[in-house]
Amino acid sequence: MRSDYCGALRADHIDQEVTLCGWVDRRRDHGGVIFIDLRDREGIVQVVFDPDGKDNFALADKVRGEYVLQVTGRVRARDAATVNPNMATGAIEVYGTGLQILNEAETIPFPLDEHSKVGEDVRLKYRYLDLRRSEMQHNLRFRSKVTNAVRNYLDDNGFLDIETPILTRATPEGARDYLVPSRTHDGKFFALPQSPQLFKQLLMVSGFDRYYQIAKCFRDEDLRADRQPEFTQIDIETAFMDQDGIMAVTEGMVRSVFKSAMDVEFGDFPRMSYAEAIAKYGSDKPDLRIPLELVDVKDLMTEVDFKVFSGPAKDPKGRVTALKVPGGNEKLTRKQIDDYTKFVGIYGAKGLAYIKVNDKSDLEEGLQSPIVKFLPTEVRAAILDRLDAQNGDLIFFGADKHRVVTEALGALRCKLGEDLDLYTAEWAPLWVVDFPMFEDDEQGGWAALHHPFTAPNCSPDALEANPGEALSKAYDMVLNGTELGGGSIRIHNQAMQQAVFRLLGIEAEEQREKFGFLLDALKYGAPPHGGLAFGLDRLIMLMTGASSIRDVIAFPKTQTAACVMTDAPGAVDEVQLRDLNIRLRKKEKPAAAE
Ligand code: AMO
Ligand code: AMP
Repeated sequence: MRSDYCGALRADHIDQEVTLCGWVDRRRDHGGVIFIDLRDREGIVQVVFDPDGKDNFALADKVRGEYVLQVTGRVRARDAATVNPNMATGAIEVYGTGLQILNEAETIPFPLDEHSKVGEDVRLKYRYLDLRRSEMQHNLRFRSKVTNAVRNYLDDNGFLDIETPILTRATPEGARDYLVPSRTHDGKFFALPQSPQLFKQLLMVSGFDRYYQIAKCFRDEDLRADRQPEFTQIDIETAFMDQDGIMAVTEGMVRSVFKSAMDVEFGDFPRMSYAEAIAKYGSDKPDLRIPLELVDVKDLMTEVDFKVFSGPAKDPKGRVTALKVPGGNEKLTRKQIDDYTKFVGIYGAKGLAYIKVNDKSDLEEGLQSPIVKFLPTEVRAAILDRLDAQNGDLIFFGADKHRVVTEALGALRCKLGEDLDLYTAEWAPLWVVDFPMFEDDEQGGWAALHHPFTAPNCSPDALEANPGEALSKAYDMVLNGTELGGGSIRIHNQAMQQAVFRLLGIEAEEQREKFGFLLDALKYGAPPHGGLAFGLDRLIMLMTGASSIRDVIAFPKTQTAACVMTDAPGAVDEVQLRDLNIRLRKKEKPAAAE
C-alpha cells in the first residue's frame, strides 16, 4: 500500500513519486491551498493539495484530524521561506496527486501534541491513542533496539534463550504472589513467577551452561515510579563461572548496549562494598553523580549535653551522621531547610539539625545553628575538622536508629543533588558487592537480603554460628542511583541450602513441601552456578530519561495495579467461579493495615 514512510522522506527523494499511508496530524487551509501533515511511525511530512487537482482537493477538504489516508504525490523542495529546520522532513513536501480516505476518525478525547497536559488516567484509558504520540513511539522503538542489542550480545557470548513457565509455584523474591486458581486441581493455585529464579537454576543442573530469557515477572507489591506489578527482566544464569566472570560478562552487556543504542562509552565499573555504600551514601544503590558524602560523627557526640544526639551516640544500634553541603549557606534558604526537615520526616527522622559555617576561625560566634549551644568548643572544632568544613558551608545532622538516619540522610543527599543540580557526570554505573546474607526481619528472625538461594561466602557451620555477620556472594549493578540488576552465586549443595532455609525459619517439612524439587536437584550433580537479572523497564527508563516506568511500557498498569483501558482486573461470572469451586467472601471490614 505504500512506497515510503512519511517521516523518512528527505531531499534525496525530490522528484520521486511516492505513496504514503498514515494519520492526519493537522490540516490547514491556507487561502485555497490545503496542507495536511501526515504522520506515521517514522514521523511527519507535509502534503499539499491545490484546487488544480479537483477531486482530490474536494476530498482533502473533508479530511479531519486522525483520519487514516493513503496519499500519492511527488516530492518537491520547499520554498526557501517555508523550509522548517526543526522537522526532519522540513526541507521537502509532497505535492498530492491522489488521495484515498482509508478510514475516518471521530474527534479524539485529547490532543496528541506533546505540550498538552493530559491526565495519565485519560492517557491510559485511550492508550492506543497515547501511543501515537512521538515520545511514546520513540520510547517503544528504542526499547526494541535495546532488546535487540541484548539478544545479539548474549547470542555472541554463547547464551541460549530458553523459556520457563508462567503458571508455576511461588518463587520467593520478597513480594506477594499473583495467584491463579486451578480448575483441574480443586482448591489449588498456581503462582505467577516473581522471577524465573528456580527454573534457571534447574537449567544449570540440566547442563545448559549459559541461559538467558527476556522474561515477564509478576509481583504484587506497593507500586512506585520505577515499579510495575508485571515487569520484564533480562534474566541470566551461568554454570562453571565465578562471581568475577559473571560480573564481567554482564557488565560487558550493559556496556555494549549503551554503545550500540546511544553511542555512550563506559569505562570499567567501580566496585563498592555494601558497608561502604551505606556508610558514605546512606543507600545500597548510591547515586555517584552527586559529590556529597555522609560522615559519621557518633564518637564525637556521646558526651554532649543534647539527648537527641547523645542518645543514639551511646546506642549500639544508633547512628549520628553529618552531611556537608559546600556553599550551602548561601544556596539554601530557611524555608528550604524547613522543607528538608519535613522531607526527612518521611523516612522517620524526628528533625534535621544543621550548622551554618559563617567563620570557622571563630567557634563561639562564627557558627549559626539551633544546636551549637549544646556542643562544647572542642566538639565543634572536631566536627569542622572531620568534615573539612569551609566558610559558607552548611552541615546537616541526623541522629536516630541506624536505619532511620541512613535512609533519611541517604534520601536527603539525593534530593540535594537534584535540587541544587550538583551532578558531576551524566552516567555513574557501579557494582555493589559484599552484601550481608541476612537482615533482621524485626520479628526476632532473619530475612534473606537477596533471596534464599544466594550462597554465603563461608561454611554452613560458620553461617549458623553467626548469621548476622555473614556476607553473601551477591552483587548489584547500580546506575545513577537506580538498581538496574542484581544477582549472586547460588548455593549448589543441599546441606548449605538446608542451613539457609533453617535460618530463615523454613523448617524441614515446609522445605520439602515448597522446595523439594530444588533440594532433590541439588543431590544429582548440581554444578557451581550463578547469575543475575536486570530490570529491562528500568534500564529503558534511564536510557530514555523517562520520568515514569509507565512511559516505557506499551500497556502498563496504574498506581493501583489496574488497567483502565481493558478494565482489568474485572469481575467474573458465577459459572466460571463454580467451575473453579470458588465462592467469593464479602469483605467484612477494611483490611487491617500491615
Ligand atoms: P531482583 O528481585 O533484584 O532479583 O530483580 C532483578 C531486577 O528486576 C528489576 N525489578 C523491577 N522492575 C520493575 N518493577 C518491579 N516491580 C521490579 N522488581 C524488580 C530491578 C531488579 O534489579 N531472581 C533474582 C535475580 C538473580 O538472582 O539472578 C531477582 O529477581 O531492576
Ligand atoms: P529540638 O530541641 O527538638 O527543638 O531540636 C533542635 C534541633 O535539632 C532542630 O533543628 C531539630 O530539627 C533537630 N533535631 C531534632 N531531632 C533530631 C534528630 N533525630 N536528628 C537530627 N536532628 C534533630
